[in-house]
Amino acid sequence: MQKVRKVVVPVAGLGTRMLPATKSIPKEMLTIVDRPVIQYCIDEAIEAGIEHIVFVTGRNKSAIEDYFDQAPELYSSLQNGQKADSLAMLDDILPDAGMVSFTRQQSPKGLGHAIWCARNLIGHEPFAIMLPDMVSFGDTGCMAEAIELYNQTGENVISVEECHPSETGSYGIVSPGTTFGKGFSINGMVEKPKPEDALSNYFINGRYILQPEIFEILETQKQGAGGEIQLTDAMLSLMKTDNFYAQPFTGRMFDCGRREGFVEANVAFALKRADYASASKSKISKMSEYTGLR
Ligand code: G1P
Repeated sequence: MQKVRKVVVPVAGLGTRMLPATKSIPKEMLTIVDRPVIQYCIDEAIEAGIEHIVFVTGRNKSAIEDYFDQAPELYSSLQNGQKADSLAMLDDILPDAGMVSFTRQQSPKGLGHAIWCARNLIGHEPFAIMLPDMVSFGDTGCMAEAIELYNQTGENVISVEECHPSETGSYGIVSPGTTFGKGFSINGMVEKPKPEDALSNYFINGRYILQPEIFEILETQKQGAGGEIQLTDAMLSLMKTDNFYAQPFTGRMFDCGRREGFVEANVAFALKRADYASASKSKISKMSEYTGLR
C-alpha cells in the first residue's frame, strides 16, 4: 500500500459568502483567534503525516503565498525589539523549504476542475484533498482519522459527518453500505441533493483520500450541480471500478466559508486554546450583560 504523501488544497474560490471581508483578503486568510484559516489546515495535514502540500490558487491570492515565505522586514523589526517569542512562533509555522507548491486554476469551473489542475504535481499515487474552509475541531484531526481508515483499506476514503436533514442541499451526501473498521463502505453519492432526494444525512465534510485514476475521469467530467465540474460526480464514476469508504469524523468541522461557522469556530478555538481559555471563558460568560442575550 502506498503512503499518502501529498495533499491538494484548493484555494481559488472567491469567498463571496464572506463579503465584504473577502473583497481584498482571501477567505483562507481570515483569522480564527490569531491564526489564519489556512494555518489550521496545514497543522492538520502535518499531524496526519502529509509531506507535501499543493495549493491550487487563483487571482488575488498572493497573500497565501506570502504567508508561507519569510518576511525579512518583520523579522528584523522583531529582532530589534527583542521579541524572541514572536520570532520563534513564526519560525515554528514556516513549512520546510520545498514543502509547498502552487499551481493556478485560471477559471472558476468548480472543485473537480480545481483538483484536476494539480494532476502533474501529484503524479500517479494516492493523494489527499483538504478543503480549508472546513476547519477540524476535535481531539484528533479529521485528516488523520481518514488516513487511519485508508491504512486499513488502501482504497478511496471520504470523511463524513451527519447534518440536519434540511441541510443536505449544501453538501455532497453519501449513501452508507456495510460497516468497515470505524467507518462504512459507500454505495452512492450525490452533490447537494434536496432533502427529499438525499441518500442519507451523512455529508462529505471536506477531507478525501483518492486514487490517482480520478484525474483521468476529471479530464472529461461534464458540469454538474450549479453548472460546475463536481468532484462528487467524478468520484461516483470512479466507484464503478473502485471501492469507497466513509470515515465518520469523531470531532466536528466548522464551515468557515459561512458566517455562522466562522463565528462558532472563533468561540470554540478561543475556549480550547490553553493560553486563552480562561480569559475567553470569563469574557464570554459576561457577554449577556451588554448584548442582552441570555
Ligand atoms: C464542496 C463539495 C461538497 C462538500 C463540501 C464541504 O462543496 O462539493 O461535496 O460537502 O465542499 O464543504 P462547496 O462547499 O465547495 O460548494
